[in-house]
Amino acid sequence: MKIAVLPGDGIGPEVTREAVRVLETLDLPGLTMFDGDVGGVAYKRHGHPLPQETLTIAKSCDAVLFGAVGDPDCDGLERHLRPEQAILGLRKELDLFANLRPAKVFAGLEHLSPLKPEIAGELDMMIVRELTGDVYFGDKGERVANDGSREGWDMMSYSEPEVSRIAQVAFRTARAGDCPRKQRLCSVDKANVLETSQVWRDTVKHAAKSHPDIDLSHMYVDNAAMQIISNPAQFGVILTGNLFGDILSDLASAAVGSIGLLPSASVGERETDHGVFGLYEPIHGSAPDIAGQGKANPMATILSAAMMLRHSFGREAEAVQIETAVSKALADGIRGGDLGGEHGCEEIGAAVRERL
Ligand code: NAD
Ligand code: IPM
Ligand code: MN
Repeated sequence: MKIAVLPGDGIGPEVTREAVRVLETLDLPGLTMFDGDVGGVAYKRHGHPLPQETLTIAKSCDAVLFGAVGDPDCDGLERHLRPEQAILGLRKELDLFANLRPAKVFAGLEHLSPLKPEIAGELDMMIVRELTGDVYFGDKGERVANDGSREGWDMMSYSEPEVSRIAQVAFRTARAGDCPRKQRLCSVDKANVLETSQVWRDTVKHAAKSHPDIDLSHMYVDNAAMQIISNPAQFGVILTGNLFGDILSDLASAAVGSIGLLPSASVGERETDHGVFGLYEPIHGSAPDIAGQGKANPMATILSAAMMLRHSFGREAEAVQIETAVSKALADGIRGGDLGGEHGCEEIGAAVRERL
């Protein structure tokens, strides 16, 4: 069980440290961790946000635990040298095309959500986000017009094979035992305007023919943003593209209570001895506004480590133990500033380990 630990920038190292301590507490035989630099910190040390050495470490492991990247000091760099290219590069290089982002309001913790408790209590969904295509990875550029004004562009596209493989993941997820609202899958697109989305929708419909047991629906993304907040009870699995999935998952995290609570798993087809190779990270970023102050909530990263045990190492029991410890800590009133509490990053980590 080899894990590459890539803490990155801002609050990345703070939250990753707590997740590592949780893994160490479990004392699993044969678990070894290897550290690597990514993001702005890697650019500053090695001249590149994703050094070859880091990529080699990641490839040689069974799973990657990732913190966050992003540094305001680097926002003026040429795009290929910016910290965010590290996570985009890892996803692409490791072919991690399927991003699973569960969003669930913890039982008894409906009051953490800004939604009315009776609506919040219904929120239990799995966002399946395509992760290596879309407008993120299309041709992009900038030019200066004759009048001296600038124009920028990013090409959005999806091919049938790209949509087909993520759709298969979503159908399988909708059928899995632990899936929220089993057999219910909603594909989210913008097919009323975008050709990319028309190909997306037609391909998902085609894939549905081999999954007749799954109740498939389609929804435009603007409506989906509205429905997630007003009527979350209708959603089980949401299947969507890279850009829409990025936006809808931040939205879902706010409905749960905080972005500091949502984990993610990014997987592809490579298998490990006990599961699939994957990269596990909180859905939030490097939070430069609170970095270095010990204020970050590490729960999203700790829950990402639980997803790692489940998907890459076949350790369902330990994954559930971690999830239970986090929800107990929350139920006992352990809250970071993101949830209106006073507990710091290390205190939250310690509280979770104590309950573990
Ligand atoms: P962000 O997610 O970093 O922060 C948004 C807000 O949420 C901030 O107010 C922040 O303080 C708060 N927040 C985030 N995580 C928190 C936590 N664990 N505990 C408490 N509060 C938390 O998004 P942003 O501000 O738009 O982006 C900051 C940087 O992070 C940018 O450089 C961006 O590109 C990068 N980013 C990286 C990733 C990633 O590494 N996967 C994800 C998103 C953003
Ligand atoms: C995320 C982040 C990334 C994304 C950025 C940092 C490239 O927002 O993981 O949600 O857009 O995928
Ligand atoms: Mn995001």
